[in-house]
Amino acid sequence: MRRKFSIVLISLVAIISFSSNGFALDGKKLFKEKLCVNCHGESGIPLVKNYPILSGQNQKYLMNQTIDIISGKRKHGITVLMEKNPLLQSLEPKEVEAITLYLSELKNGLPFP
Ligand code: HEC
Repeated sequence: MRRKFSIVLISLVAIISFSSNGFALDGKKLFKEKLCVNCHGESGIPLVKNYPILSGQNQKYLMNQTIDIISGKRKHGITVLMEKNPLLQSLEPKEVEAITLYLSELKNGLPFP
């Protein structure tokens, strides 16, 4: 009985924390849908050498950089590739959060074991 109760409790905690922190969006799917993959590679390892590796970077950092690039605050010769993209201009903060969470949980393009 005690065991059953703890299983129910653990599942409840998992459901609540999953739905309340805004990470219910599928970051991996969004990363594809918003075409980030075209430049940054399917798992955050870019095909073009001078594009940054997003796989495994700190989530807060990735999120701030994405927002700064889209808003034009971070400017650099090649940020224009990202900044002027209408699909990126329509990103919602929650979507950026979900995408960057997905990226931060990868290591060398692979999920942590
Ligand atoms: C058209 C190509 C292109 C697309 C599409 C694109 N990016 Fe980028 N992104 C770049 C380039 C180029 C840079 C490097 C800019 C620089 O060096 O300042 C960059 C930089 C970044 C950085 C900063 C990384 C760092 O280490 O500082 C983040 C985070 C990022 N992109 C996230 C995204 C996300 C999320 C999407 C999709 C919503 C996306 N990008 C779509 C080309 C692209």
